Parts: sequence; structure tokens; C-alpha cells
Amino acid sequence: MSKLRLEGKVAIITGAASGIGEAAAKLFVENGAFVVIADVQDELGNKVAASIGLEKACYKHCDVKDEKQVEETVAFALEKYGTLDIVYSNAGIMGPLPGILDLDLAAFKNTISINALGGAALIKHAGRVMSERKIRGSIVCTASVSATRGGISPVAYTASKHALLGVVRSASRELGSYGIRVNCVSPFGVPTPMAFSTGRQVKFDPMVTERNRAGTGYVKGTHLQAKNIAEAALFLASDESGCISGHDLVVDGGYTVSCDTFPIDVKLSE
Ligand SMILES: NC(=O)c1ccc[n+]([C@@H]2O[C@H](COP(=O)([O-])OP(=O)(O)OC[C@H]3O[C@@H](n4cnc5c(N)ncnc54)[C@H](O)[C@@H]3O)[C@@H](O)[C@H]2O)c1
Repeated sequence: MSKLRLEGKVAIITGAASGIGEAAAKLFVENGAFVVIADVQDELGNKVAASIGLEKACYKHCDVKDEKQVEETVAFALEKYGTLDIVYSNAGIMGPLPGILDLDLAAFKNTISINALGGAALIKHAGRVMSERKIRGSIVCTASVSATRGGISPVAYTASKHALLGVVRSASRELGSYGIRVNCVSPFGVPTPMAFSTGRQVKFDPMVTERNRAGTGYVKGTHLQAKNIAEAALFLASDESGCISGHDLVVDGGYTVSCDTFPIDVKLSE
């Protein structure tokens, strides 16, 4: 029988109680990994772990805004499973919707704290453990198509994802000298609770999303789902991507190369 792609590997996935992280937790376990589901939604996180199977998955409360909790989650994985091979920093929020003219700076800071600093804290503590223990680990982050483009998402979200991509690229250089790889996966428009949390029917209503896709050069028949992003993360987490580091793997059905902005006039503050 052929070896599973993550056979016996230990992974932490943040934001794994829902959406893309949840899909990744399932996929990683199907591929042989032990997974720590780290999130702030305790009830949901425990449910996801139980649905996967408690012999391969467990839940740990971790607010990525709090560096101590991030450090404790890394220590928890080590204590429970004995090592740490893969870290998937995926937790994120959409943050405030108003544009720059009405920007709430406290909400801006909160978005940066979760989406960018949370990722940096996890890379820091996982990187320390992996380098000290000589583990040639793989670190993956969920960035976004908004990590390289403006005008697709709200300003705080866009800034946070640009920052995260900078952290990934920078850390990949530094941690590369220990054999640790750091990459990110950048989705566009996946129907998850976060995507719908904008409260703007215009952007993520399935009907409208369908219409957008028809006009954005999307690959015909492509309907991005959380699983598609999880599959890209699995590739980056596995040894199959052993020569890839500092990379931003865009998973958008061709959207970013074919279109400057949404085909319909969407104002972010609406
Ligand atoms: N859905 C999309 O269209 C899309 C597009 C590009 C990027 N992303 C990114 O994908 C990632 C996952 O989002 P999703 O779409 O699956 O949404 P989601 O809301 O389903 O999942 C996000 C998860 O992150 C968790 N989370 C939020 N704040 C946290 C914190 N402080 N500490 C720990 N966990 C926290 C939430 O509880 C939730 O379980 C995010 O980083 C998001 O920015 C999503």
C-alpha cells in the first residue's frame, strides 16, 4: 500500500473550527496526520474534532491575538503528539467594512492583530521548536488574493493580508537555513461563514457570486469550495512541495490574472 501524503505527521491548524481550516483538518487526517484544531469557537472546534475522530484530532482553545496562547498551543501539540511537523496558520477575520474615509482604527488594529500578527506569532513559536529540534517542517498560511491586490476587499483586511505575505516571504528566507519551508495559499471567494459575515449580499450571495464568476474569466465549471483551498494547503504541507518555499499559491480559478475588480459596481461600505 502506498504511503499517505502526511503519514504520521503532526499538524496544528488555526481557525479549524470552520470553513477552510475545518476542511483542511479533515483532509490532513485523511492523509495520515494528527491534527490539533486551534480556534476560539470551542463548541464548534470540539465538534469538528469529534467528527474527525479523537484518536487523530483534538481541539485546543487558541486566540491567535494572544501570543501566549499561541506558544501554549505549540507546547500542547508537542506534549500530546511528541513532535510538530506542520503548522497551518489559517485563522482570520474580515474586519471592518468601511473604506479609508470612515476607517475605524481600533477595528483596523484588531484585524491586523488576528490576520497578520497571529500568523507571525505562530510562525515564530513553531519555527523556534522546529529549528531547535531539527525538524524540517512545513509552515503554511492562508493569505488571500487581497495579499497582492487592492480594491477587492476592505482596507484593513487588504493591509493585513499584504503584511502576512511579507511575513511569509521574510520568514521563508530565515527559516530556510534550518530546512523549514514557509508558504501561503491565497484563495478568492470561497463560500464560508467569514465570507458571508460581510453582511453585503452583493458579494457573497451564491446567486450573485455565480453571476460574478460568469464574467471574471473563471475557469468554466470551477466553483471554489473550502476543500479546494485545503487541497492546496495539503500540497504545501506535504513533501511533494519539498523544493517550494516563500511561495504564494493563488487558488482563484484564474480570477486575479483575468480581472481587475468585480464586474458589478460593489462599494465596500454598502
Ligand atoms: N472565504 C474566502 O473567500 C477567503 C478568501 C481569501 C482568504 N480567506 C482566508 O481564509 C481563512 C479562513 O477563513 P474562512 O473563509 O474559512 O472563514 P471561517 O469564518 O469559516 O473560518 C475562520 C476561522 O478563524 C477563527 N478565528 C477567528 N478569529 C480567531 C482568533 N483570534 N483566534 C483563533 N481563531 C480565530 C474563526 O473562529 C473561524 O473558525 C482566513 O484567514 C481568511 O482570511 C478566505
